Amino acid sequence: MKNLKRLLNKNYNDLIFEDTMIIVAITGASGVSYAVRLLRVLKNMGLETGLLISEAAKTVIEYELYETIDDIKNLSDVYYESKDLTVPIASGSFKFDSLIIIPCSMKTLSSIANGYGNNAITRVADVTLKERRKLILVPRETPLRTVHIKNMLKISEEGGVILPAMPGFYNTPESIDEMLDFIVGKILNILKIKNTQLKQWDNKTTKMKNN
Ligand SMILES: Cc1cc2nc3c(=O)[nH]c(=O)nc-3n(C[C@H](O)[C@H](O)[C@H](O)COP(=O)(O)O)c2cc1C
Repeated sequence: MKNLKRLLNKNYNDLIFEDTMIIVAITGASGVSYAVRLLRVLKNMGLETGLLISEAAKTVIEYELYETIDDIKNLSDVYYESKDLTVPIASGSFKFDSLIIIPCSMKTLSSIANGYGNNAITRVADVTLKERRKLILVPRETPLRTVHIKNMLKISEEGGVILPAMPGFYNTPESIDEMLDFIVGKILNILKIKNTQLKQWDNKTTKMKNN
């Protein structure tokens, strides 16, 4: 692992990471495959990740994926229980790089927009915004209520990035993985991580090419 810093911490396998760590949180919206794809790509790049999975997300994972929850946990470096408000990343003094909530349910969106840190995911989002770190939410719901849109506006006004699970079709995707990569590539671009996930639009040939 790159830049891995090992210090003493009793609760989490004696590991504390440097501020390069990317936290991925999976909440109970449809589209949990986006999170699995993102975790795979980050792991392949050798980047450090912490993972949170909400209780509702565990149910959605059982509906939507062949992968088990343990399979998904194994894609990350450290797994944190979302019910546990004592997780080290819930403190502002733990310096992680960014938090990506993917997919993000309307419930988690609302909690974050209104500062309601009732579980480790929403608390870590509070920390991310108050410490002015990068927060990316990948909401999934359709159609949207006015309050959903207002909640997105609130977070956007605070500097959070709303990156809806809306893959484009102009790159003529041939597989679900390509559609997942569209969103993963957009996330990596915001994190300024060089990647080949997102193909660049070439308007001269109307064909897509890799970055
Ligand atoms: C199979 C399944 C699919 C769901 N899909 C969505 C969804 O796409 N968007 C959403 O906002 N909520 C969805 N929900 C409802 C959320 O899981 C529910 O609001 C839950 O309380 C969210 O909790 P969390 O934000 O802590 O994960 C779904 C629930 C189930 C069981």
